[in-house]
Amino acid sequence: MMNWLWRLFVATILFAVSDATPSSIACSSAPTVTIDSGEVVGTTTKLAGATITVDQYLGIPFAVSPTRFAPPVKPTPWKSPYQATKYGPACIQQFNYLEASRNTLIAWFNTPLPPAGENEDCLNLNVYVPATPGKIKTVMTWIYDIIIVTPNYRANVFGFPNSPELPLAKRNVGFWDQRIAGAASIDNLVLTHPKDPPFRAAIMESGQSSLYVNPTNAPTSWLALTAALNCTQTHPHSNLTCLRSVNASIIKSTAEHLTLPFRPVADNVTMHRYPEKARLNRDIAPVPILTGMNANEATIITLGQSNATAFLAPVLGNDTALIQEIVDTYTITPPARELAAILTDLLFTCPASIVANDSHASGFPTWQYYFNTSFPNTQLFPGAEVYHYSEIPIVWGTYPRENATAYEKALSRYMQSAWATFARNPTGGPGWEALHRIASLGSGGILNTPIDSDMIGRNCFLFGPYYKELGFFA
Ligand SMILES: *[C@@H]1O[C@H](CO)[C@@H](O)[C@H](O)[C@H]1NC(C)=O
Ligand SMILES: *[C@@H]1O[C@H](CO)[C@@H](O)[C@H](O)[C@H]1NC(C)=O
Ligand SMILES: *[C@@H]1O[C@H](CO)[C@@H](O)[C@H](O)[C@H]1NC(C)=O
Ligand SMILES: *[C@@H]1O[C@H](CO)[C@@H](O)[C@H](O)[C@H]1NC(C)=O
Ligand SMILES: *[C@@H]1O[C@H](CO)[C@@H](O)[C@H](O)[C@H]1NC(C)=O
Ligand SMILES: *[C@@H]1O[C@H](CO)[C@@H](O)[C@H](O)[C@H]1NC(C)=O
Ligand SMILES: *[C@@H]1O[C@H](CO)[C@@H](O)[C@H](O)[C@H]1NC(C)=O
Ligand SMILES: *[C@@H]1O[C@H](CO)[C@@H](O)[C@H](O)[C@H]1NC(C)=O
Ligand SMILES: *[C@@H]1O[C@H](CO)[C@@H](O)[C@H](O)[C@H]1NC(C)=O
Repeated sequence: MMNWLWRLFVATILFAVSDATPSSIACSSAPTVTIDSGEVVGTTTKLAGATITVDQYLGIPFAVSPTRFAPPVKPTPWKSPYQATKYGPACIQQFNYLEASRNTLIAWFNTPLPPAGENEDCLNLNVYVPATPGKIKTVMTWIYDIIIVTPNYRANVFGFPNSPELPLAKRNVGFWDQRIAGAASIDNLVLTHPKDPPFRAAIMESGQSSLYVNPTNAPTSWLALTAALNCTQTHPHSNLTCLRSVNASIIKSTAEHLTLPFRPVADNVTMHRYPEKARLNRDIAPVPILTGMNANEATIITLGQSNATAFLAPVLGNDTALIQEIVDTYTITPPARELAAILTDLLFTCPASIVANDSHASGFPTWQYYFNTSFPNTQLFPGAEVYHYSEIPIVWGTYPRENATAYEKALSRYMQSAWATFARNPTGGPGWEALHRIASLGSGGILNTPIDSDMIGRNCFLFGPYYKELGFFA
């Protein structure tokens, strides 16, 4: 369960915004750029749904093929031009059993399979640049004058092994991948780059990473995995050496069958123990943020379940008094909707609102949205409503064109424009009022209805003790 949650949060698409000067030589030959590692040759193309020409550079290595469970190492410069013409492998994904729920998740989030498959050798990124230098042009259907970079990073046991044999600050190798690549898990990068951040603004959709730290740093999953693979018996002097020699497919499959969650440890380098304390002390990257959440984030987490008491018990450490208070406070019917509403607040609305409020209170320009509409052609299942992820096809402009409504297209254009406006000039905002006003996007068929902060997350006070225990704040 928790691993599934963690995967969702980390996978949420986020943007760090910085500047780059396109230096492509636009002529009939293939586009070419020179980076630290050498020359890179791409292709000029049109992306699906777009009318504008784009130079794309695919699968550029930003590190050498990684040693399993070790931080990334910068690539050795290449001598002949790197042909960045096809996607590199994706990192290995974990889809836990049982079979039925595993297949559903794969169908939702891993179909079709990545073009170059999954491999441990996955530290590559893709760059999309407007083909015409200088003049502002559309890069993808959803964004205007912005170079898009999409890096891979290691996840699950390959990214967050938490082996006691590794120094604490070298255990979150997935975060080190992100640092060397320069993007992803944006809130965490904001929190851990107080000086000279390599970005000038951040957009965080549906969450922040701070809440999902392993509060005790206990290596529970690592121990279970090494035991299951007999490393503890065969290599008592180094379970790490043993696990480095096991076939990656077997590691993946064992973690999936045992449903082992691998989460980052709080090392105070790549991940803070008390992130909101750091934010309130202004000991973070001093950048504007755009953050927000969806109205029914948790429907895909609670699908098929309706007993809030039973669901919350393992999450809230069997605190029956607190669980009763929560259930009594939410008076939503039927029970499945109530459970989804509780989880939406607990895991998304409240943490993201606290981050936004703290960012604003610390004097960083802060804008917030509340995505509050759903469309028939992006519904995953009946009752999914405004589920986690459902804004992404709208922001990226990748929603199915089949059965798309005029309103869906208009909202997509509006959100793309807001995101791009913010990216171009972060201190100017996305085009609506800063906190404590929030843009309610799509409510009642209206693109943007300005609301007050106190309109959402009224029940957040209930979760304070839980957040505190996790170390969300000190
Ligand atoms: C681990 O050891 C047990 C008992 O000796 C054996 O049944 C099992 O197949 C071994 N597992 C692996 C992955 O080697
Ligand atoms: C390997 O795992 C076993 C069982 O958890 C433990 O007793 C042993 O200390 C570990 N070895 C090292 C070097 O950490
Ligand atoms: C790992 O195991 C998989 C599945 O059994 C197999 O296809 C693959 O060839 C193995 N890889 C190596 C490097 O042995
Ligand atoms: C991280 O910092 C907190 C105080 O903010 C401290 O309590 C904790 O022990 C530190 N952890 C490590 C691993 O240094
Ligand atoms: C919900 O779960 C609790 C505890 O797990 C149980 O006592 C209760 O009977 C369940 N409620 C329903 C309606 O099944
Ligand atoms: C909650 O209670 C269950 C059943 O009594 C127990 O197995 C579990 O360890 C408890 N969890 C916590 C976090 O206390
Ligand atoms: C579009 O609508 C038709 C008719 O309702 C339906 O059969 C089809 O599955 C829909 N396609 C999508 C992508 O929603
Ligand atoms: C979200 O949309 C629903 C249905 O249109 C509306 O009743 C509700 O007030 C909206 N919520 C917010 C916070 O805008
Ligand atoms: C954020 O601040 C606003 C304005 O003070 C407040 O109404 C709201 O409850 C706060 N949100 C949370 C989650 O504390």
